[in-house]
Amino acid sequence: MAYILLTGGAGYIGSHTALALLRAGYKVISFDNYSNSSTTALQRVEQLAGAKVISISGDIRDEAALQTVFRQYPINAVVHFAGLKAVGESTKMPLHYYDNNVAGTVTLCRVMREHKVKKLVFSSSATVYGDAKTVPIAETAARSATNPYGQSKLMIEHILEDLVQAEPDWSISVLRYFNPVGADSSGQIGEDPNGMPNNLMPFIAQVAVGKRASLSIFGNDYATHDGTGVRDYIHVVDLAAGHLKALQYLSKHQGIEAINLGTGTGYSVLDMVKAFSKVNNVAVPYNIAPRRAGDIASCYAQPDKAFNLLRWQAEKTLDDMVRDSWRWQRQNPNGYSNS
Ligand code: NAD
Ligand code: UFG
Repeated sequence: MAYILLTGGAGYIGSHTALALLRAGYKVISFDNYSNSSTTALQRVEQLAGAKVISISGDIRDEAALQTVFRQYPINAVVHFAGLKAVGESTKMPLHYYDNNVAGTVTLCRVMREHKVKKLVFSSSATVYGDAKTVPIAETAARSATNPYGQSKLMIEHILEDLVQAEPDWSISVLRYFNPVGADSSGQIGEDPNGMPNNLMPFIAQVAVGKRASLSIFGNDYATHDGTGVRDYIHVVDLAAGHLKALQYLSKHQGIEAINLGTGTGYSVLDMVKAFSKVNNVAVPYNIAPRRAGDIASCYAQPDKAFNLLRWQAEKTLDDMVRDSWRWQRQNPNGYSNS
């Protein structure tokens, strides 16, 4: 029985991956400081899976706490979700982001090496492509960062590459997620942003449920089919499945591979709003606002590498994404908090 350690296992993507791993028969250990999540998420994962998560409250920068976990359990591999992810906040608190994301990852890798656990799946982001010159974006595209969050992901990618160069017996998958949306079809777990959502889908859902009056669409003069920004939205359940495939791949291959996890299809902001309204039969009032600083017109994946290496591809449709996002929002208007 394989033990998989999920850092940030109580978060949005971590909780969905924990559920998928439990259902596939893995032992799951979550190590999370709950800075952006709640223990309720993992309780619901346990109910859905009918199996226990070993949940540990701790910070990845706390080497002693990590040592204890690695001493206590025969960990086979680590899926490293833990990190801060708000772009705007990162520009105001760069040291906090570098400390949490970069220093935290270095500490984690040091402890892993000491315990001879050298299989790692890392949550990277399409943000490492910066303002890509062409779409779809392949893994070989040039990398750059425009804010401390993106810079932290890029730095970690370089650190992991250097690590494999120095110690070739590591097996590392760097998964570059595009835009995760949706929720488990039970509506029991989902994305629970703190305060005002930064991302499109939770904002649409909060407008639909009546928590916010109107969606501001940031710009309708981009060079896209309807002028609004185009992104590669990927269902979080598909994303979670990608992590299982990556773990299987790591068990047979050494070295490091960066792999896009996206659908390969771009949808505009207006496409998303229209699909959400139509599929869920709910109004989503919107207004056109100025462009958001730092946004790009179009970003979607070339997803072939994931299929060729991992035998993974996204299976859920746009309708699934908007239906499942809405079910989660409707059943949990205040996310995991009861207030
Ligand atoms: P999330 O905030 O829901 O989950 C991250 C989890 O990590 C949270 O539970 C948080 O409490 C925990 N955490 C943060 N810092 C920690 C620390 N120092 N020690 C222990 N736990 C810590 O975010 P998510 O959407 O599930 O994202 C997971 C990963 O995927 C992140 O690394 C994020 O940068 C990356 N990613 C997310 C997206 C997205 O749009 N959701 C896109 C690309 C990449
Ligand atoms: N948008 C709106 N109104 C909103 C929110 C978003 O019009 O209230 C638009 C944006 O302008 C963009 C699209 O919806 O065109 C998607 O925006 P998101 O903020 O949901 O996603 P981004 O692609 O901008 O950002 C995401 C992650 C970042 C990551 C980036 C690149 O949130 O962390 O992808 O990978 F850096």
